Amino acid sequence: MKTVNAKVVDQVAIIERRVAELLGRMTLDEKIGQMSQVNASEAGAPEYLGMALRDGRIGSVLNQVDVATVNELQRISVEESRLGIPLLVGRDVIHGFKTVMPIPLGQAATWNPELVRNGARVAAIEAQAAGINWTFAPMIDIARDPRWGRIAESFGEDPYLTGRLGVAMIEGFQGDDLAGDGSIAACAKHFAGYGAAESGRDYATTNIPENELRNVYLPPFNEAVGAGVATLMASFSDLNGVPATANRFLMRDILRDEWGFTGFVVSDWESIHQIAVHGLTSGDRDSAYEAATAGIDMEMASDAYSNHLAGLVIGERIDIDTIDTAVANILRIKFRLGLFGAPYVDPDQTPAMDLEAKLRVAKQSALESMILLKNDQAALPLSIDRVDSIAVVGPLADAPYEQLGTWVFDGDPDLSITGLAGIRNLVGDSVDIRYVRAMETSRSRSTDTFSEAVEVAQGSDAVILFLGEESILSGEAHSRADISLPGAQAALVRSIRQTGKPVIAVILAGRPLTLTDIVDDVDAILFAWHPGTMGGEAIADLLFGVESPSGKLPATFPREVGQIPIYYNQKNTGKPPSPNTVTNMDDIDAHAPQTSLGMTAFHLDVAYTPLFAFGHGLSYGEFSYDNLRLSPQELRIGNSLTVHVEVANLGKMIADEVVQLYVRDLVGNVTRPVRELKGFKRVRLEPGQTVTVSFELHTDDLAFFGRDNSLMTEPGVFHLWVGGSSEASLHSEFRVVDAAH
Ligand code: GLC
Repeated sequence: MKTVNAKVVDQVAIIERRVAELLGRMTLDEKIGQMSQVNASEAGAPEYLGMALRDGRIGSVLNQVDVATVNELQRISVEESRLGIPLLVGRDVIHGFKTVMPIPLGQAATWNPELVRNGARVAAIEAQAAGINWTFAPMIDIARDPRWGRIAESFGEDPYLTGRLGVAMIEGFQGDDLAGDGSIAACAKHFAGYGAAESGRDYATTNIPENELRNVYLPPFNEAVGAGVATLMASFSDLNGVPATANRFLMRDILRDEWGFTGFVVSDWESIHQIAVHGLTSGDRDSAYEAATAGIDMEMASDAYSNHLAGLVIGERIDIDTIDTAVANILRIKFRLGLFGAPYVDPDQTPAMDLEAKLRVAKQSALESMILLKNDQAALPLSIDRVDSIAVVGPLADAPYEQLGTWVFDGDPDLSITGLAGIRNLVGDSVDIRYVRAMETSRSRSTDTFSEAVEVAQGSDAVILFLGEESILSGEAHSRADISLPGAQAALVRSIRQTGKPVIAVILAGRPLTLTDIVDDVDAILFAWHPGTMGGEAIADLLFGVESPSGKLPATFPREVGQIPIYYNQKNTGKPPSPNTVTNMDDIDAHAPQTSLGMTAFHLDVAYTPLFAFGHGLSYGEFSYDNLRLSPQELRIGNSLTVHVEVANLGKMIADEVVQLYVRDLVGNVTRPVRELKGFKRVRLEPGQTVTVSFELHTDDLAFFGRDNSLMTEPGVFHLWVGGSSEASLHSEFRVVDAAH
């Protein structure tokens, strides 16, 4: 009886034999064909791509989601080409296909890997039925700059949270068996460091010291590779002077030599062609050389490979082994996907999942993604017994497409439950809901239409203001230098505030916003991100207390854009700010003499703290943390300690709490962050219930890359906090000693 491992070894060996056998029969042109991915979104794709498919010059297509057309493209490739190699069919299935989940940054706010996995599973089942067998997700770029539009697609600023959720999304897409029903290949992207784009401008230069790259930006990709992700995508960005798409350090030294990755790497859209635009080469021929030798296995959309690789091999600038290795990487994934045995998709054969089940996942994800940032005087939850009328105001209250968020090509807005609809459905006739759009879009600057909104608000018992950004204001190529509420929204808030009515702000956005100019003019803020198909039903349930908000921030909310980059796991510096730091220029004497004595790392004109911290999120429950115990409090390298903490719900409502564990390595071979997330658990507590939450912390979890960029764990003192945000105060400490002790 073979063990599971023995079976896996057999499967791997069988695939390797099949790859080698097929490779041995391929011509150079057919090999280069496998390295080319072509856009198939235009009508008539089988006609205009037919010749190239028959010649074996295409290995993958993208952006075709009509299953009949996909099957026809596949048929030509399998039945009319010499070797019949099936196609990979790629699509950006980023946070749902037809049924849309919250944007990934919103899913990150759930701190719930199982929910992220379930959402990806729903997406994979829907996408596979359309003929897709490869998605370009998860995006696991660490994003510390909310000006960057693609923070919307990320899991936020923390490597630990991003690593856990990236693996969960990969598992959801790929299932236990890449060849299984409802499984599609995932793609960890964008490798690497894309989120460090200067000033948050998309595609901008990144300069990341290797130590920072290894300690912050690479770990989620390493976890993705460890989880068996089928593919990676190279980043557009220039990393330390060498664009990622031509960066051997990333694609070979790290990805292949250190991590042992056996899948394949695809460029980003025309990013091989862009190597010359960066100025690393003078044109496509040299760009093809740089990308192929760096380790980019497949070219997306541009044709540098198809035009130049053959000549580079014949001219002996590139060794055929380089081509064979790239093609083997691609064929390996096609075999793992089972495409040679089953290249076609029969929508009736893909796993059935009824729409209600999919919508339940989308709703639960939306519910757990939303964050109660502020709730003065328990303005929330609203009670249908205490209000007779509510004014629902704002340009995003009834926006079925906008609430789906960025990167939604195939989402169906007709399925959307908007905030307005969700509220109306929930309260029925018991509350008079009066809706006033007040602004045409979030960017409208006119205040002429405010009078109706103010009048309706004046005549109502409470106001729910739907504010934020349309989906197009975040995502790729949509960065903003000013991340406050666009248009005249702040003016609208102030106008409504003057009515004296309770004002609840519900904010839909694809990024953290600077809310400083409205935070004092509203009683409560529910930050809903772009919550997807079921966003409105989730918003209504949270506003009226059917469920308690439970989301926690996956990214820091600055007070001012000038604070950026501002993130929780920062270094201490040699002059750390302190609570008595001056934060108001007006407090400085007009003719004060120049001095730096006593000054610390801060700005004169804004507090050094964020408006809302990483991990922050309020609840209708009231959670207390007590009796923090570590055992042992001293441990040798190579061992673990257990952390126990008692969490109680002192509130009146059942609610979830995301219990977070942070550590600080006081002294390191390189300076270490003042706090680092090392564990989290979501627990659901009845009113009055107390549970003991435990974490296992191994010294390996404390490892970091030192001055020589090797992974190390050092003895020393560590501080530890447990609580409901990165500002947790319940504190303890432990000591790690050398194994020799
Ligand atoms: C885009 C994006 C990438 C996406 C690809 C295909 O430009 O950078 O994330 O997967 O092109 O659409």
